Amino acid sequence: MRDGTSDGASDGTSNGMSNGMSNGAVPTPGGVASGRLSVVVTSETTQDQVDAVGRPLPHFPEPAALASHGPARVIAMCNQKGGVGKTTTTINLAAALAEYGRRVLIVDFDPQGAASVGLGVSPHELDLTVYNLLMERDAQVADVLRHTATPGLDLLPANIDLSAAEVQLVGEVARESVLSRALRPVLDDYDVVLIDCQPSLGLLTVNALTAAHGVLIPLECEFFALRGVALLIETIEKVRDRLNPRLEVDGILATMYDSRTLHAREVVARVHEAFGDTLLQTVIGRTVKFPDATVAAEPITTYAPTHSGAAAYRQLARELVARGDAA
Ligand SMILES: Nc1ncnc2c1ncn2[C@@H]1O[C@H](COP(=O)(O)OP(=O)(O)O)[C@@H](O)[C@H]1O
Ligand SMILES: [Mg+2]
Repeated sequence: MRDGTSDGASDGTSNGMSNGMSNGAVPTPGGVASGRLSVVVTSETTQDQVDAVGRPLPHFPEPAALASHGPARVIAMCNQKGGVGKTTTTINLAAALAEYGRRVLIVDFDPQGAASVGLGVSPHELDLTVYNLLMERDAQVADVLRHTATPGLDLLPANIDLSAAEVQLVGEVARESVLSRALRPVLDDYDVVLIDCQPSLGLLTVNALTAAHGVLIPLECEFFALRGVALLIETIEKVRDRLNPRLEVDGILATMYDSRTLHAREVVARVHEAFGDTLLQTVIGRTVKFPDATVAAEPITTYAPTHSGAAAYRQLARELVARGDAA
């Protein structure tokens, strides 16, 4: 699956750096020997393109149209730290994949319900949520499922009810695979399922990892970002050993990157040192357009379709397809 195709051409999209402002050369731990390096790709550039750690940045091709849909690849968006961009990445990656003709299902798996709110669903108007799917044997996915304003993008919403599941699941038989079983009936209808996890490594997150084929780890580009990643990887490995042998780490995504600060570049370089090519080449810049889009309850791809933040998530979608991590 991982054929990583690229044709090296420039399509003029941003590579996800900040607001498309900086064009300074980046420190390159790998020691790239080239005179003219730029991390920011503007239209019609003919410069060598490199990513935030100096790796050559290919043009990820636009995904080919799909003749048919499903079965879905399930991806858990996971980091036990809050505020690192899990929900933002879930919504905007999903919307970008849907723009490319993929059928995408978001599972809001955080009792805060931020993914639901971010897609225009108000938590108090919800009758049935993911909670009912988990806890009631006769609950049907179709009754919980909602279409969103983005064509091809559906949602299994959540609200604070879900916080009770963490406790109630403890007494269930096969308590770690309740979500996996609940999703089974709809996997053939989608190309990608994205699970927006809560910021903890508790039983809900273990359920998400048990249901998943892959894990995406968003990391905020700040000094303590790497704290906790070892524990997260350990948890992923335990779930792989005991519950879900197919589980793999699809990638680490650097978020809230500000290319103007040395600090952000150093953090990304450290992540690359520690995790190599598990660090995705797409980097999500820090921009207020993301909170703005959340307030508007829309993905950035429709709220600000030409903004570099939208381009960054489209590039992430193309990169994941090129890596074989998404359909
Ligand atoms: N790239 C970004 N630039 C600026 N703000 C961001 C970015 N990504 C996310 N945010 C904001 O940071 C906050 C936390 O992001 P969120 O996606 O909710 O994180 P998590 O789901 O990991 O808790 C939100 O207010 C969100 O709008
Ligand atoms: Mg969240």
